[in-house]
Amino acid sequence: MNKSVGIIGMGSYLPERIVTNFDLEKIMDTNNDWIVERTGIERRRIAEKDIATSDLGAKAAEAALLDAGVKAEEIDLIITATLSPDMNFPSTACIIQEKIGAVNAAAFDLGAACSGFIYALTTAKAFILSGQAKTVLVIGAEVISKLLNWEDRKTAVIFADGAGAAVVSGVEEGGILSTALGADGTGGKFLYMPAGGTRMPATHETVDKKLHSVVMDGSEVFKFASRKMVEVSEEAIRRSGLTLNDIDYLVPHQANLRIINNAAKRMNIPMDRVYVNIQEYGNISAASVPIALDEAVKKGHIKKGDHILVVGFGAGLTWGAAIIQWNK
Ligand code: COA
Repeated sequence: MNKSVGIIGMGSYLPERIVTNFDLEKIMDTNNDWIVERTGIERRRIAEKDIATSDLGAKAAEAALLDAGVKAEEIDLIITATLSPDMNFPSTACIIQEKIGAVNAAAFDLGAACSGFIYALTTAKAFILSGQAKTVLVIGAEVISKLLNWEDRKTAVIFADGAGAAVVSGVEEGGILSTALGADGTGGKFLYMPAGGTRMPATHETVDKKLHSVVMDGSEVFKFASRKMVEVSEEAIRRSGLTLNDIDYLVPHQANLRIINNAAKRMNIPMDRVYVNIQEYGNISAASVPIALDEAVKKGHIKKGDHILVVGFGAGLTWGAAIIQWNK
């Protein structure tokens, strides 16, 4: 059994439809300058009406399998991190399992919002190290556009759709050196969806009041994220036995450019060693980190042997970071 676990292939998929800040100006009281200045977002991808999260997740998964040179039948576990599942049950992971023909895989969803991919990566590593799985498909997929109140300009300009995936398996050396996760349920009220669960099942009233959509206290989330991103990164670095100076590249959750800039500055990582695509895609929650990681690798920013810090935070509140020595 391998003692190391790493990412052996990655893929991502974005819906084709681009919605710019100027498009949003036409449907709500907002403007391009405000959105760019406060968030860094210039445009985002929005899925067509007939597309659900599993459709994007399956495409990202197929790209990751191709990249890894692994067949769908070789996957023995699928973990899908999402806050926008196709439906309450069955899990989106099971729906993706059918779509890609991963007939030998167990499958489940993982709910840690925007930290979901890092939680799922940590889970995949634990399954492999304990001998319960050999090859795990970790997917972050979201269609958040269908969970937004398009009259709430504080959330509608931020979130968007897309998917990223990683094939995780035993490797000779390097790989996922360490992870660190955390949660603080007392902050759940700062980012949540009120209705649609057992606390507040769907009624005409919940629909009329638009309670089936994301509610966010932006400034509370901003304060929490700015603090936690650095703290959890430092914890993951400490657990890896490395120091900040050993980190070659930072791939953060793409929630807000100001949060990313502040965190990079506090960790003394120059912005040319930080991957940023928020201007193109907005915040895609659990899909944001794997899409960014996939792009950073494919654009040549990350090379074999590099030490990568990936870090995320989100609803829960949750947070997580991983140190990965790139294997490919
Ligand atoms: N367009 C124009 N004006 C807007 C707006 C929009 N889309 N959204 C809010 N405003 C207005 C507000 O109504 C407010 O106006 P007022 O002062 O007249 O009341 C003003 O802009 C400032 O609002 P505020 O919410 O204080 O702005 P902010 O600087 O905190 O920025 C966020 C708002 C959402 C961009 C910012 O708080 C943020 O990014 N937080 C983190 C969110 C996040 O990362 N979420 C995902 C976690 S995974």
